[in-house]
Amino acid sequence: MRILGIETSCDETAASVLEDGRLLSNVVQSQAIHGGFGGVVPEIASRAHIKAIVPIMREALRDAGADLESIDAVAVTLGPGLIGALIVGVSFVKSLCFATGKPVVGVDHVEAHVSATHLSFGEIGEPFLSLVASGGHTHLFLVEDGLKMSLVGATRDDAAGEAFDKVARMLGLPYPGGPEIDRAAEAGRPDAIDFPRPVIDKAYDFSFSGLKTAVRYYVDGLEGRVSPGMLSDIAASFQEAVVDVLVHKTISAAAAVSAGTISAVGGVASNSRLRARLEEAGREAGLRVLLPPPEFCTDNGAIIAEAGYLMMKAGGRTDLSASPYSTRLYERVNIA
Ligand code: KG4
Ligand code: ZN
Repeated sequence: MRILGIETSCDETAASVLEDGRLLSNVVQSQAIHGGFGGVVPEIASRAHIKAIVPIMREALRDAGADLESIDAVAVTLGPGLIGALIVGVSFVKSLCFATGKPVVGVDHVEAHVSATHLSFGEIGEPFLSLVASGGHTHLFLVEDGLKMSLVGATRDDAAGEAFDKVARMLGLPYPGGPEIDRAAEAGRPDAIDFPRPVIDKAYDFSFSGLKTAVRYYVDGLEGRVSPGMLSDIAASFQEAVVDVLVHKTISAAAAVSAGTISAVGGVASNSRLRARLEEAGREAGLRVLLPPPEFCTDNGAIIAEAGYLMMKAGGRTDLSASPYSTRLYERVNIA
């Protein structure tokens, strides 16, 4: 089965062709224009998607050596995300499928992030715990039978990626801030500043706003005198605090749901320190650690096509009346 995946939920216009879970092409266009605003401007994002969507789809088909006729189904992100941006992708795919009679599969963006695990490692063969850490989400899911997901924990306030972006901004680094902090931290000492590790009452939930505020006070206290060495130390110490919390909660949640395998996905899962620490902690805990390559962690069309493929294998189809949604509450699993 050959699936075209289309993603427009935020500031990446992306398209990919997948054949029975095998990648044939993956084209991502990031909207650089938001860099000057320090974050994604929703209306600019929608307009940029309208411009890019047809050329990006064409490029994905060309790279795959495929034409539209050879595509069996089209998968598209329905949500969550920026509603105006989602409307562009969903309307485009619905029109395409109305005109060609091809089936549509509406995909949840967070489920698609999780499916980067299947895309990279094939059938997992057992329930696993997945950390989804992106610009909009910090969720822990128990994943069973394809993409059946139950929420184990989630952030109460900022997402991990959002905290990276905000701290980068405080340090005068451009958007998106995650890769900038990752790079700056290489030259810094992770134990230079003792930032708080937010541990909140609910064992597997997260909170990053207190940590962000602590960095804000620290930076304000320097009154603009931030040397390159200091900047690296702040980046490394902040990154270490986020990574400590993500690693600790992922490992302990895996034990709580008796999962022998963990995966980390979403833009923040491309963070070099998080990857190294998860590998190490997972090994110590006797867990199988699945880390998809960074290009499948950040937003892309291949994870949308893969989620669509998993849904279609389970008999899922989406009606042409399907609507995009900006937010979604995921069903929680009760942990004794
Ligand atoms: O998954 P993604 O591409 O889009 C969303 O669904 O949000 O994630 C984007 C987020 C941004 O906040 C970005 O700063 C963060 O992922 N990110 C990183 C790294 N690369 C991207 N955060 C930390 N370290 C990185 N290397
Ligand atoms: Zn995403």
